[in-house]
Amino acid sequence: MEKRLIPFVDPSIGVDEANAASEVIKSKNLVEGKNTRSFERKFSKMTNTKYAIATTNGTVALQLAMESSPLKPGEEVITTPFTFIATTNSILYTGNVPKFVDIDPNTWNLDINKVEEAITENTKAIMPVHIFGLAADMKAFSDLAEDHNLYLIEDAAQAHGARIDGQHVGGFGDVGTFSLYITKNLVSGEGGIITTNNEEIADKITSLKNHGRTLKGGYKHIRVGFNARMTDVVGAIADIQMDKIDDLLKKRSYIANSYRKVVDEIDQIDYQHIPKGMEHGNYIFAIDTRNHTIKPAEAVSRLRQLGILARPIYSTLSYQQESFKDLSNWRWSNYVEYPNYSNVVCPVSESIAINHFEIPIVPSLTNEEIESVKSALVEIFK
Ligand SMILES: Cc1ncc(COP(=O)(O)O)c(C=O)c1O
Repeated sequence: MEKRLIPFVDPSIGVDEANAASEVIKSKNLVEGKNTRSFERKFSKMTNTKYAIATTNGTVALQLAMESSPLKPGEEVITTPFTFIATTNSILYTGNVPKFVDIDPNTWNLDINKVEEAITENTKAIMPVHIFGLAADMKAFSDLAEDHNLYLIEDAAQAHGARIDGQHVGGFGDVGTFSLYITKNLVSGEGGIITTNNEEIADKITSLKNHGRTLKGGYKHIRVGFNARMTDVVGAIADIQMDKIDDLLKKRSYIANSYRKVVDEIDQIDYQHIPKGMEHGNYIFAIDTRNHTIKPAEAVSRLRQLGILARPIYSTLSYQQESFKDLSNWRWSNYVEYPNYSNVVCPVSESIAINHFEIPIVPSLTNEEIESVKSALVEIFK
């Protein structure tokens, strides 16, 4: 058989998911129903949170999390610039103001000390992102949020399987949000889920995602809402994925540990450091080239020649995006004053942004493919 290009995207779905989706279609109960409820129960169990609420995707989950907050337009939310753009867009949608704080050079997550320094009278929330599947320091963020009375939203889109002292992420803040996008550790194509331990927040989000209805349903609407419901076809796929998640995470962890050993033997390249007590969800394995003369573009091209797909991810930080350069066309700018984002400087984020790239870590990798990636790293960097 011809060798495949070793991929960084290869969702672990197959016959079980196809059968489950097909059963839903045959039943004609296409809208959110028993499969979605079952998925939610399993997710709540995995994250040890009281409530898990399925949504159409991880972006909408973040918007609902912002909508569930007591924030008023114009108030600030501290977040990281080293993330997917949905994090920051969710803050803008509700008329709030993203305030970018730099990341830690070792974990690549929001730097707690810099966050503390950045808090002002107008700061009302923090949105840490568990980048690439490694948890932000949520115990410290939770204390900080409590001290300053800030709403705490975990963007855990990438972090199924990330734990701090055995506790899964998603329950440390007021609300946690996850994505089930095709690249994620748990996939349903598009899909999202929100976790919380707070009944009031859970009820509000459940109503908001269903047109602001009362929890009894029907045509009584107690607030302005959206339609952010999952379909039961998607719920059925996600439900099957929950039965496989432990094995999928184990495989990712096996691959990541095997890469870490090789990178440890090569001077001048590195990876995200995992603080004591943390378990990495291993969504993405990124090579850090800050101290090497070979840079991501060259490495990615040489890997491609060796049959391995790799890519830089957030080489443009959120505040460097075109959409941020001029917010005057954004509807909220008639009511809210935004800082000039061209003046923002986060040196650590800027350096990591242009000095990292991901290598394949999908659970379908064979031992032979893992070995090929490892020897390619040695060949290119040693
Ligand atoms: C950090 C982060 N936040 C939010 C999202 C948005 O999730 P979705 O693609 O499901 O809308 C993603 C993923 O794609 C993400 O990586």
